[in-house]
Amino acid sequence: MIQPASMRCILCAAIAAMICVSCSKVKHYELSRFVSPETCGGCHTDIYEQWKGSLHDLSHVDPLYREVALHDLKGLTDVDELEEAQLCVKCHTPVGYVSGMPAKTSDHLKKIPGLAANGVQCDFCHSATGAKKPYNAELDLDPGHGEENPGTKRGPFRDSRSDFHQSEYSALHTRSEICGSCHDVRHVVFGTKLETPYEEWKKGPYAERGIACQDCHMRQRPGIPATGSTERPDNPGAAAAGGPIRKHLFTHYFVGANILIPSLFGSSEQAAMAEERLTNAAVVAIDGSIGSGTLKVVVKNTGAGHCIPTGLSHVRQIWLEVKITGAGGAVRYHSGKLKPDGSLDAGTVIYTTVFGDGKGRPVMNVAKAREILKDKRIEPLKSAVETYRIPEIKDSTLTVEAKLWYRIAPQDLADSVLGKGKLKIPAVLMATDKKIIQLDR
Ligand code: HEC
Ligand code: HEC
Ligand code: HEC
Ligand code: HEC
Ligand code: HEC
Repeated sequence: MIQPASMRCILCAAIAAMICVSCSKVKHYELSRFVSPETCGGCHTDIYEQWKGSLHDLSHVDPLYREVALHDLKGLTDVDELEEAQLCVKCHTPVGYVSGMPAKTSDHLKKIPGLAANGVQCDFCHSATGAKKPYNAELDLDPGHGEENPGTKRGPFRDSRSDFHQSEYSALHTRSEICGSCHDVRHVVFGTKLETPYEEWKKGPYAERGIACQDCHMRQRPGIPATGSTERPDNPGAAAAGGPIRKHLFTHYFVGANILIPSLFGSSEQAAMAEERLTNAAVVAIDGSIGSGTLKVVVKNTGAGHCIPTGLSHVRQIWLEVKITGAGGAVRYHSGKLKPDGSLDAGTVIYTTVFGDGKGRPVMNVAKAREILKDKRIEPLKSAVETYRIPEIKDSTLTVEAKLWYRIAPQDLADSVLGKGKLKIPAVLMATDKKIIQLDR
């Protein structure tokens, strides 16, 4: 049947209008409007050195991220799932995304200009003027026009002067909202909450006390983990060559819990700081009685402003290892043992989340995440009590050890996206407790 020409036109016009509406959602800025971190670092030397090698610097080149992103895209046909899978670059390559290079995840395979590939960089954050939503990187930007006319850089000072750029006080930069804008992630179509550190913080005790993300994450420096259970002292100094001495400068290491990726890029300082953060995040305590055949182990989140784990929690794993030894060191009970192939024993207590495909089947691919099947994590300043059933043991003196471990991903995930044995995922010991128990026989 031949369609009447007029009808086809209306259809075309409608489709064209739809495309226009969806195009206008992405605000484009010429890449040439942004200034490279190296230029900023010319004056802000210390801040640049701190940021260099951080996960913000590495967010576009991080091999685990890139391989997971490309792996997730493979074989997708559902348009809603594809829409999510193509959006990874919005947060991981933010300057590239707003300038259209790369516009979508599959463009990763193409070469993009160096400036875009710098990840979460100085001029992206310091051009931000507001956040439309507290999730999915909906920041309003007002970048300048390149090095000749770099425009206004926004920050925490009310009296800041530089010959290079204009400066402006910005309340946004002093608040958790600027972090939450990227650190809370929702599926663009299904709305599933994929990452929620900001939401967890917002309803928790630290928000109530006015302790923002910056108060922990931008006070850390080597030897000063700056967590909820440690001091978070000021860091006096000059923000730029020739600038005044300030009572406190916010540091730019942006350390979380990832010891692996920074060390792959030679940033051993970042890796050491992640370990310091993790070892000041939680405590574990063995609850004495074992006589009745049960052992209780308590894990408390003492240092994180959000759940442990947080962020990419369906991939992150915190687990509990419990080992009981008897006479002569003979192992009588062992749960949570890490096997040589990197897997964990069935029955291991693991703090993590699990997404589902909408029909109750677990999925690792966030593009397919239609529901949250399980959320076993520990909220800020809260405890989890785990009960272990212990088989009968004949020894009269027992040594009980409990260890809390962290890793950024299960080994089999790394093996499946990068190839077996390509990336060995290390485990970090977060906390430990040991008790000698005498049993009345
Ligand atoms: C030619 C040197 C120079 C360069 C290059 C430079 N800055 Fe600055 N900047 C300064 C000086 C000096 C100050 C004032 C420091 C103070 O007030 O303590 C400053 C202040 C700032 C502030 C604080 C603003 C406020 O009001 O709180 C921010 C943020 C900032 N710069 C970001 C940047 C960024 C981002 C870049 C790169 C796009 C950059 N700067 C490049 C010299 C420079
Ligand atoms: C993820 C966003 C982000 C990135 C990337 C970032 N900054 Fe900042 N920066 C901030 C925030 C937020 C503050 C203020 C924190 C507060 O007041 O609570 C800040 C503060 C500053 C200040 C004021 C002095 C201080 O340290 O408190 C300067 C100068 C500055 N940044 C420069 C830079 C430079 C140069 C880079 C790149 C090497 C950079 N920033 C990268 C978010 C960022
Ligand atoms: C433009 C988006 C964006 C903004 C804004 C942003 N981040 Fe990030 N941040 C990221 C991405 C993406 C990563 C992960 C990179 C990776 O692991 O490949 C990350 C990583 C981190 C990590 C390391 C996590 C780990 O696993 O070790 C910390 C800590 C962090 N950000 C803190 C902050 C804080 C604090 C702020 C606010 C001052 C902030 N971020 C603002 C996008 C952002
Ligand atoms: C009271 C201190 C404190 C506050 C406030 C805080 N954090 Fe954290 N954060 C920690 C500690 C400790 C860790 C390491 C333990 C862990 O991984 O949860 C951490 C880890 C992280 C990680 C890495 C998690 C992972 O395992 O991949 C991210 C991302 C992060 N924080 C983002 C944020 C954001 C965003 C905010 C604000 C909404 C924030 N944090 C507020 C202490 C804090
Ligand atoms: C709205 C912002 C946002 C979007 C969109 C986003 N991410 Fe992320 N991604 C983050 C943040 C923030 C982190 C750091 C979280 C943490 O450390 O727990 C992160 C961390 C990761 C990591 C961990 C990297 C590591 O080294 O451990 C992987 C893998 C990842 N993202 C994959 C993806 C994929 C695949 C997509 C697209 C389907 C995607 N991300 C889309 C914000 C985003």
